[in-house]
Amino acid sequence: MSEKLDVLKDRTAASVMNTYGRYNLGLARGKGCILHDLDGREYLDLLAGIAVTGLGHCHPEVVQAMCDQAQELFHVSNLFYQEPQVALAEALLDTWRPGAAARDGRVFFCNSGAEANEGAIKLARRYMHKVRGENRHEVITLSGSFHGRTLATLTATGQDKVKDGFEPLPEGFITVQAGDLEAMRAAVTDRTAAVLLEIVQGEGGVKPFPAEYLQGVQALCRERGVLFMADEIQTGLCRTGRWWAHQHFGLQPDVITCAKALANGLPMGAVLATAEVARGFEPGSHATTFGGGPVVAAAALKTLEVMARDRLAERAERLGAFAMSLFADVAADNPGKVGQVRGLGLMIGIELSPGVDGQKVWEELLRRGYILNLTQGSVLRLLPPLIIGEADLRRFAKTLGDVLSGM
Ligand SMILES: Cc1ncc(COP(=O)(O)O)c(C=O)c1O
Repeated sequence: MSEKLDVLKDRTAASVMNTYGRYNLGLARGKGCILHDLDGREYLDLLAGIAVTGLGHCHPEVVQAMCDQAQELFHVSNLFYQEPQVALAEALLDTWRPGAAARDGRVFFCNSGAEANEGAIKLARRYMHKVRGENRHEVITLSGSFHGRTLATLTATGQDKVKDGFEPLPEGFITVQAGDLEAMRAAVTDRTAAVLLEIVQGEGGVKPFPAEYLQGVQALCRERGVLFMADEIQTGLCRTGRWWAHQHFGLQPDVITCAKALANGLPMGAVLATAEVARGFEPGSHATTFGGGPVVAAAALKTLEVMARDRLAERAERLGAFAMSLFADVAADNPGKVGQVRGLGLMIGIELSPGVDGQKVWEELLRRGYILNLTQGSVLRLLPPLIIGEADLRRFAKTLGDVLSGM
């Protein structure tokens, strides 16, 4: 037991609100895919701050871009024009709608994923009310989804545990069974403003949807005049093997939301909407003091540049397939212990079988120096930095096999 960790835990308990079930680990330093705890012990990071540090920890070019900008212009508010914000908006739009439709969109910058989804929900309502002149305000989301912790986004979230004790919840949200197109069809009415969904559910247990379902939902939205909005907060920015996960399926959402990996660890979120839907906002209708500030925008712009230059989407696709084949081998070598290996790119879930104690497996992996996440009690979730190498994945798969065979 680490004395330093004990001290930090006591200080945390006495000063920080008790909202997180924290791991029994304090971290002091990180570089690339490696983290060091308070006593200098090394860990392989397979979580990347929950899909945030895509380029790895303390990426030198991002650190440099941030420091350079911090000495030039730090914060001015959105009352003024500034270059880093617009350069980032242009770069983001180029990843979303490349080719002919490039820049046929607008970006709103904010500070987190929940705030991005909150902005998207507000945009959908306001677009319907003010631009289309229609009385549509409802947003349909899916069971098992996760969209954030503000009052609106926790209401949108299709998991009861995040709502407990926060009633009364805002009106205007409907949750339908994930994957059931007929349930979606039945829920869409002339009050529906938008459907909001994750292309692969992350917190829900790394659950990809079949292409036909996603394409069916988009077609239904088009047919019924409803906005199709993709929450790409966890799936976006190369994680699944494309810039955006919806690009695997030829989808064209009206709105996407992103955050997490955008500035490789600095807090930033964004709502991307088609130019048409963006007409829903006017000066004064939505705002945030820090959104798209120069320092975080410079860090994000560099993050996008590195992702493009180093072809990290292709790398995620290749290494994701490699990792999943390794984990499938681990499953085959340990019959009855692994239910399913699933995911897209470097967003991977290893579902343990009902008889296997997920918490124990996860704790043992942590003890052996691997940082990952256990979601829904039985799914080992891997969201490694996009720069992870084959040797590290092999090393982890070998350890996972050892741990499972010993259980
Ligand atoms: C799909 C999805 N949407 C929204 C959020 C909320 O993001 P944030 O924690 O930055 O508010 C998350 C966070 O895990 C997420 O995975």
